[in-house]
Amino acid sequence: MEKHFYITTPIYYPSANFHIGHCYSTIIADSIARYKRLDGYDTYFLTGSDEHGQKIEKKSAEAGVEPKEYVDKIVENAKDLWKRLGITYDRFIRTTDEDHVETVQKIFTKLYDKGDIYKGEYKGLYCTPCEAFWTESQLVDGKCPDCGRDVQEVSEEAYFLKLSKYQKQLEEYIESHPEFIQPETRKNEMINNFIKPGLEDLCVSRTSFKWGIPVTFDTDHVVYVWLDALSNYITALGYGQENDELFKKFWPADVHIIGKEIVRFHTIIWPIILMALDLPLPKKVFGHGWLIIDGAKISKSVGNYKDPREYIDAYGVDAVRYFSLREIPFGNDGNFSEEALIARINSDLANVWGNLVNRTIGMANKYFEGTVTNPKSAENIDIPFIEQIDDLKIQTDNKIDELQISKVLEMIFDVLRNSNKYIDDTAPWVLAKDESKKDRLETVLYNLLEAIRVTNILLKPFMPESTTKVEEYLNCDKTAFEDAKYNENLTYKVTDSPKPLFERIQKD
Ligand code: MSP
Repeated sequence: MEKHFYITTPIYYPSANFHIGHCYSTIIADSIARYKRLDGYDTYFLTGSDEHGQKIEKKSAEAGVEPKEYVDKIVENAKDLWKRLGITYDRFIRTTDEDHVETVQKIFTKLYDKGDIYKGEYKGLYCTPCEAFWTESQLVDGKCPDCGRDVQEVSEEAYFLKLSKYQKQLEEYIESHPEFIQPETRKNEMINNFIKPGLEDLCVSRTSFKWGIPVTFDTDHVVYVWLDALSNYITALGYGQENDELFKKFWPADVHIIGKEIVRFHTIIWPIILMALDLPLPKKVFGHGWLIIDGAKISKSVGNYKDPREYIDAYGVDAVRYFSLREIPFGNDGNFSEEALIARINSDLANVWGNLVNRTIGMANKYFEGTVTNPKSAENIDIPFIEQIDDLKIQTDNKIDELQISKVLEMIFDVLRNSNKYIDDTAPWVLAKDESKKDRLETVLYNLLEAIRVTNILLKPFMPESTTKVEEYLNCDKTAFEDAKYNENLTYKVTDSPKPLFERIQKD
């Protein structure tokens, strides 16, 4: 049976100021997508841009250009950044894409015809930067509870989606599917803070601006940007289109990767839209934490922003990927600073991984002219070492399914750390002095090469560039995911000129 996997990132608001925090959802989703692809799953990885709404209309007017022209430029910039980060998406959906616009219009009409969308009048508060409606009681000190900025009073004729009708069904679904909202703490927050107090019907159209998808049967209205944006997860697959093969194959999604501040939209509004459409819900929604600086989310306005390409240029793409993945533990926030990035490069990438590769290949060249086989001169110390190599993939598979990416890297680096310790414990330079220990010396080097090979296979999804280098250095054709276990019968002919994988960085 063919195995499928469908993973998505949020679609980004077009912003010229993408920062390293923005990259996190996409790096994490890309790594999981790569892992599943290498593990034999037919994988679909979706990302894109969320281009409509009042905020974009305002910004483009300030820039003196049409909204579409304004977003076109920024989307090019985003695509360039994803390319630099090695993001392997299958589709980059834009909410201005024709097929998306058409399907959102169909969805709106379908829900209206069904009676789940009705016309009324909206009076309330709106935060334009977040494109979110709020009630007085939800405000914190009179400001938007998400971003802390001022909200505006709006009063206009509008269409509403009957969230209240689905409240019970949603609550039951969340209770009976404990894996649906990850991590658990966010699930409790959604139930206790939002669902239990009662869901109010949601305003899903606006008339006070034009930059949006027109409601076909009432063209003064444009579709509320979150209804438009959330639908991307199914429009991208051809839902409601003549050719809906991808939709049939990949829906429901295995996981939506999103930041914690948009969990509410993905676990209340989105499931209700799907229920109203009689579609199955995504299997998981993972609300990850943020990269923060001094307790604050990274942002241009706080002044702690740098274009991520500057870090890629200075330290390499894999260091940036590794840092983001390793530094944010499951669901928590992680602290970002250039010092912390450098510390990770030095402590993990250069000292542990790079050093191991360098030492092992150096010794293979020095003692065996680069050709190492396994004379099987085993000792007790080898047993736990080999076991750890052998078990690694089962463990990383489990942690990937739990979305514990930082943990996956920690486990792989444990093996790399132990390999360095194995060198110190077996002291190959001492064995080399004794001709009768030649087989033992070769066995030790063989085991080390195996540790490097197996960890390298499992590191591929996270650090595609450096693992390609190590693969070339090892020059061994067992590089597929199914080969990620100890093999006692290989022959290594390693390179005689390995360059350091990562340079240690000295910074004042
Ligand atoms: N357009 C909406 C998503 C619609 S999905 C149907 C949106 N866009 S966004 O550009 O504001 O954010 C995109 C993603 O970047 C979100 O998941 C958000 O959490 C993430 N991040 C933005 N800053 C971040 C950090 N500092 N750290 C980690 N992720 C953060 O929301």
